[in-house]
Amino acid sequence: MSQDDTMDHAARAPVHLGIIMDGNGRWAQQRGQPRFMGHRAGTTNIRRVLEASVTFGIKVLTIYAFSTENWARPPAEVRTLMQLLSRSLNDQMGELHANGVQIRHSGSLVGISDTLRRQILAALELTRHNTRIVLNVAFNYGGRAEIIDAVQRLMADHVPPDQVSEDLLGDYLYTHGLPDPDLIIRTGGEYRLSNFLIWQAAYAEYYATPTYWPDFDEGELYRAIVTYSERDRRFGKVKVG
Ligand code: FPP
Repeated sequence: MSQDDTMDHAARAPVHLGIIMDGNGRWAQQRGQPRFMGHRAGTTNIRRVLEASVTFGIKVLTIYAFSTENWARPPAEVRTLMQLLSRSLNDQMGELHANGVQIRHSGSLVGISDTLRRQILAALELTRHNTRIVLNVAFNYGGRAEIIDAVQRLMADHVPPDQVSEDLLGDYLYTHGLPDPDLIIRTGGEYRLSNFLIWQAAYAEYYATPTYWPDFDEGELYRAIVTYSERDRRFGKVKVG
């Protein structure tokens, strides 16, 4: 890929990219390895895709790291996923901060260990003024739970029903202050949204690839962005002219 290509497409890159990182288990299975090795490789890949996202001019990268449904996985696998986040925060936070990455968390902190909760809150606090790119980690996240949570807090705040608007509800979501995603990528060959950003992705473009997440590299991201930039986004309107 030439520098010119990069510059050309950076202009049309999505502002907010969401990624459903699927296929870690199958990536490991394919190599005769246990599933946790796939999650480990998938975790390493986040860094590669984050750096490529900066190169392409993406401003917000939301990654689906652990869904509320993932609690139903075998306890050892749940522990692995928790440990991977904990270790990543421990090992990488200094460098991410130095590189201007702002960490956000979308999801619930309920059910997460005290240590991990403290690590997450510390990462949010440390990086809150960074502006190069937002890495929004959807962890213990479910789109329906997010909406219920927002409605409950609206009611607790005694917001009159006629003042509930799309904008106001947006302010109560985990993603408050972030633009809606423009593009959602799902790796691993499935074609589902799986409860990911279901409110925010109302007008997002969708891109699916059979590539397993640990193999999804800069070139794959570039192809997704080119496909996205060729789409005609009408937001429900008729094209004029
Ligand atoms: C799906 O693969 C992936 C997940 C359950 C979440 C992705 C998690 C990571 C990349 C690692 C942890 C995250 C952080 C932020 C450190 P799968 O197991 O469903 O794959 P399969 O469909 O092939 O079984």
